[in-house]
Amino acid sequence: MARRPPGERVKVWDGAVRLVHWGIVATFAVSWWSVDAGRMDIHLPAGYVMLTLVLFRIVWGFVGSDTARFARFVRGPAAVLGYARSFLKPRASIWIGHNPLGALSVVALLGLLLAQVLLGLVSVDTDAIESGPLAHLVSFDTGRQAAALHGLVFDVLQIVAGLHILAVLYYMVVKRTDLIGPMVTGIRRLPITSRRPTRIVSPWIALGLFLLVGFLVWLLVTYPPR
Ligand code: HEM
Repeated sequence: MARRPPGERVKVWDGAVRLVHWGIVATFAVSWWSVDAGRMDIHLPAGYVMLTLVLFRIVWGFVGSDTARFARFVRGPAAVLGYARSFLKPRASIWIGHNPLGALSVVALLGLLLAQVLLGLVSVDTDAIESGPLAHLVSFDTGRQAAALHGLVFDVLQIVAGLHILAVLYYMVVKRTDLIGPMVTGIRRLPITSRRPTRIVSPWIALGLFLLVGFLVWLLVTYPPR
């Protein structure tokens, strides 16, 4: 009989966090490909999906399940430095949810993604044909500056997302801690659970909130006059 890893099964991520995460990964890939392929008919809708995902995730960070909440995982410099010392040790991490160091990359990624889509909404192309849906609200020069920043933030995002993926691989190889499995199934096997029980908010509340955010994004991107 195969030996099961020791520990207790703990639900560390709710469905909303997992679906939004893989939704962001897929939408990021589609946005990247579509702009390279000159497919603005796909690039713009991908941006609206990204805006919905990121805004939902930010709201979920205030009202969602315990491990999704910013108040639970965003910590001060002392906690970050304290965790950073153990980061380099080849020891398994038994943190429930984001650790203080990982939290920095979560906030950076969500912030950069939000900046990226908001800049895209008002970006103006050189011939002003392939512009964002809210480009009519700004001058041509402002729209061109937004487009330049849209490209710059994308470069930074590539670096931060690359470091994020490297960190996840580092945990797997050096610290022998699988973070990817839990981001797929929501479950981790952990030795101690009693100290921090996690409260999971109903998926129906998540769905209702997601549809509401999607509706608001749709209202925003169809804002007249076109
Ligand atoms: C295929 C490559 C990727 C893998 C394997 C991966 C894996 C993961 C894992 C395991 C976590 C949870 C880390 C933890 O336990 O603290 C996570 C969180 C996160 N990742 Fe990724 N990731 C990938 C690509 C990306 C990309 C490309 C982005 C954005 C551009 C991204 C954005 C995020 C965000 C925002 C979180 C925080 C999740 C939340 O709290 O809602 N990831 N990722």
